[in-house]
Amino acid sequence: MLHGLKTSVRPVEEDDIDEIYQWYNDQEVNLWSTGAWPLNTLLSKEQISIKFLDGSSDGYRYSILDENKYLIGTIGFKELNIPSRSATLFVVIGNKSFWGKGYGTDALIIFARYLFTQWNFHRISLDTWDGNLRAIKAYEKVGFKIEGRLREARYVLGSYQDAILMGLLKSEFLAMHGN
Ligand SMILES: CC(C)(COP(=O)(O)OP(=O)(O)OC[C@H]1O[C@@H](n2cnc3c(N)ncnc32)[C@H](O)[C@@H]1OP(=O)(O)O)[C@@H](O)C(=O)NCCC(=O)NCCS
Repeated sequence: MLHGLKTSVRPVEEDDIDEIYQWYNDQEVNLWSTGAWPLNTLLSKEQISIKFLDGSSDGYRYSILDENKYLIGTIGFKELNIPSRSATLFVVIGNKSFWGKGYGTDALIIFARYLFTQWNFHRISLDTWDGNLRAIKAYEKVGFKIEGRLREARYVLGSYQDAILMGLLKSEFLAMHGN
């Protein structure tokens, strides 16, 4: 278990799946996460189970807990590139009452430290869309820098939005947050 100031991060457990299933098929969570709604297909509980409990499927996924060890979100990484020691990060605080209270930033800091020191990554990337100012702000607090913009790459609620590409190097992270 990884411990931060407000959150802990641990592997996903079977008991987490019911709640993750609710978030995964929730309109507001999806809108902020990917801009996508309606989804092409809703995922079944079984599909969510495979996605979250089988680490080799399409990424490595972990659960985020609050101070009381209550499940509030998920975090993980995918697209590992071994020679360049890089990966793509993703994060969702699925429990909406925890948005904007520092939990996402705290979880990202402990998870980035884990990726840089345990997995020995050199760089991590992530992306969002330009209307997700809360996410961009949280990522900047962790140390991510905006590196690029894919013009009108996302379609959100009837209008095109730019995708924002962000990156963080190990050296920058350690200089900002220490080991
Ligand atoms: C994105 C997410 C992980 C961020 O975590 P969080 O706990 O909500 O964010 P934090 O509270 O740590 O930081 C958010 C910052 O943005 C600020 N913020 C919130 N809403 C904002 C807005 N509309 N405009 C500008 N800044 C905003 C907050 O004030 C805070 O900054 P501060 O600490 O300087 O006050 C979380 O909101 C989430 O999972 N949202 C839904 C799914 C999603 O968007 N996932 C990311 C997909 S790329």
